[in-house]
Parts: sequence; structure tokens; C-alpha cells
Amino acid sequence: MLILIRVSVPPPAEIDLIRLGFWVGVTLVAAALPVRLPGGVHATITTAPVLAALFDVGLANPFGVCWVAFFGTFEPRDLRGEPKWYGTLFNRADWVISGYAAWLVLFLTRSAVTGGEPLATVLQIVAAGGVFAIVNNLLGLLANSLKTRTPVSRVWALSVSNIVIGLVSQVPLGWLMAEIAMRVGQWAVVLFMVPLLLARFSFSKYTETRELFFGSVSALSQAIDAKDGFTRGHADRVSRIAGAIAREMGLTEKDVELIELAGLLHDIGKIGVEDRILMKPSRLEDDEAELMRRHPIYGKSILEPSIALRPLVPLVLHHHENYDGSGYPDGLSGDSIPLGSRIIIVADAYEAMTSDRVYRKAIGHDRAMDQLNRYKSRQFDPKVVRALDALIRSRGVAAFEASDLPQIEYETLAELRRRLAAEPLIRDAHAG
Ligand SMILES: [Fe+2]
Repeated sequence: MLILIRVSVPPPAEIDLIRLGFWVGVTLVAAALPVRLPGGVHATITTAPVLAALFDVGLANPFGVCWVAFFGTFEPRDLRGEPKWYGTLFNRADWVISGYAAWLVLFLTRSAVTGGEPLATVLQIVAAGGVFAIVNNLLGLLANSLKTRTPVSRVWALSVSNIVIGLVSQVPLGWLMAEIAMRVGQWAVVLFMVPLLLARFSFSKYTETRELFFGSVSALSQAIDAKDGFTRGHADRVSRIAGAIAREMGLTEKDVELIELAGLLHDIGKIGVEDRILMKPSRLEDDEAELMRRHPIYGKSILEPSIALRPLVPLVLHHHENYDGSGYPDGLSGDSIPLGSRIIIVADAYEAMTSDRVYRKAIGHDRAMDQLNRYKSRQFDPKVVRALDALIRSRGVAAFEASDLPQIEYETLAELRRRLAAEPLIRDAHAG
């Protein structure tokens, strides 16, 4: 707000209101098409027209660009009240501050490009556009990180990092739009909607692909939960707990995501275990237990053919290796077990102990931690157990909520089976 007052009082001598209105209009059209990215950040193609207003010398800047940034970036969701009023206000401030910062760069570097030297001009465009993009996205990331209580690095990894090329490519596009408007005419700017819409298309494709992938993996993991007799969403919770531990241990967001996916699919190999063993209500005989212990190997063979899932193979294969080497299938010990597997085995044990099962009640957090502490160094990596402990001490169970996994809001396969089992078979009615 202060910036808007500062650039408007006193008002510039010549204000071309039609020009101003034109850029506000173009920006509004671009703003009407936002794409929600996985981290909660909304990507728009508004950067290009706002920068075009900045580079348009007929617009009495910084007055012009600040007002275009203010009015032009209103989105339909603002009118629907989707971000609360303070969110809308913050977004307006974000755009105005970014526009003003970019103008400052142009202003401070103007003496270097007086001769119209191409290299200096390009450098100026890159600097102004770069500052705009950095300020704009940094403020957006910070706001989303605070709102969702997710680390900035995670919001970055989920959203902006994947579309950064699309965002940066809007900088030269903005400059070109301004040049075309000044030299050819404002009507020609309409042509730029084509590359802008293409940029938007790529943003939305990225989001769609990712949702499709996570949704499919989640569906697959539900299938195995149902057969195994585990309670609703066991793999889902293992995945969230494992992800939270990995983040607490300072792993990169890429590794955290890998561990979350492996957490979802860690027991996928149980599909290959015979039903009479998998669903046996009583204790397994020795030979049956041995067959059960093959499930990580089956898991490997299921995941390996898929390029997208292949990176999960070592994590899934070794999720029953004990820290002292007494586990299976390879008897690995200590740091030779993949870190992701060492995290998943702790998350798996913790989840199993703290959730109710058909055959026993949950034992609660404190007793579960006692068990984990008792078996650390034998079954579990002490570092992982310590990380889980620190995590719950500092944030409670809410620490497991921040994840990009879709929520389970439908009847799971296990629940459907139980419901249908209570209904009579209708086969006889058809036979007659
Ligand atoms: Fe397992």
C-alpha cells in the first residue's frame, strides 16, 4: 500500500489511462486462468503482462506497473473469497512489491543502456525480470509455507521447482509484448496469448500427471491393505510417518518423496503370498513364516518393470532388514541397509503399535516408543528412533499430517468386503 501511495502522490504528469487500462485488461485475462500446483501455490501466466507494463515506456512507470500489478492480478477465486481477505491483500502486495522492485532495477541500471547496446539491454531485461520473479515467488512461497506449516523447501520442491522454466520464460515474453505493443500496436499483443496459454497448459499437465501417479500408487497400496487385514490406511499412515521422520532427519525433498512412495508400497509383494498364509488368523508355522518372508522379493519383482517405480526397489526390498543383520532377505546390517528402508521399518512398527487392529487394541504412543527404544540397535537404527521421538516431542502427531498424499475419503476395499460379506449371495435368484 505504501508503495502504491508513494508512486501515486504526486501523480505523474502524463497518465495514459487507455494504455493503463489495456495492460490491466490483458493481465486480468491472464489472471483468470490460474493453476493450483501440488504445494498449494497458484501458478499464473500473469508475470508476462505485468512485466510488459514495466517495459512499456509510455506508461509513466513506476506508477503504471504498480497499478497494473494491483488491479490486473485479481483472480476469479479472489472474488469467490477463496483466499481470505488478508490472503487477497497479501497477493496484491506481493505483485506490487515485485513490480516496484523490478522497476527499481530498471531505474538503477538505466544509465548503462542509454545507447541501446543489445548486450546491456538483454542484461537489464534479465536482471529486472529475475528480480521480479524472485521477489514474487519468494513471498508466495513464504506465505504458503506459513499457511500450511510446511517447510519452504517442501513447498518449493512440490510446486515452483517444477515449473521454474515456464515462469522464467515469461520474462522475455513480457519484454516482447511491450515492444510489439509500442511498435506494431496493442492489438498484436493478443497473439501472445498463444504462448502464454501453452505455458499454462504445461503447468496444469504437470499437476495432473503428478496427481495421477500419486492416486494410482495410493490405490495400489489400498489393495494390499485390504487383503492383509490391516486397518484402514495402514500403508498411508506408514508413508506419512516415514516422510515426517525423513524430513526431521534433514533429507532432501526428493528423498522424502521417494520414502513416502516406498512407504505406500512397502508391502506390495504380499500380493504374491498365498491367501491361506496371508489371511491366516492364527500364528504362522515355520514354513509358512518363511514363505511370508519372501514378500519383499516379490515386491521388488512387481515394482522393477515400471520406470517410475524402479527407484523404490531397494527401499522396498530391504524394509525387513534389521539393524544388527538378523533381518531378511539379505541379512544386511547397519548403514549398508538403505536409509529409506531403516526409516520405513520404524514407521511400520510404530504405526502397527499405535493403531487398533481387529485382534488387539493399540498400545499408545508411550509404550510404542518404549518398544522402539528397547529394540533399537537390534532391529531399528537408533538415529531413526531418535528422530521419531524428537519429531513427536516437538510437534505431536500433527507432524504426520503435512503430506501430499490424497486423503482417504471413500470406502476402502477392506470395508467394502466386510459390508458385502454380510449380504446374502444373489446367485440363486439369477439361476432360476
Ligand atoms: Fe513388510
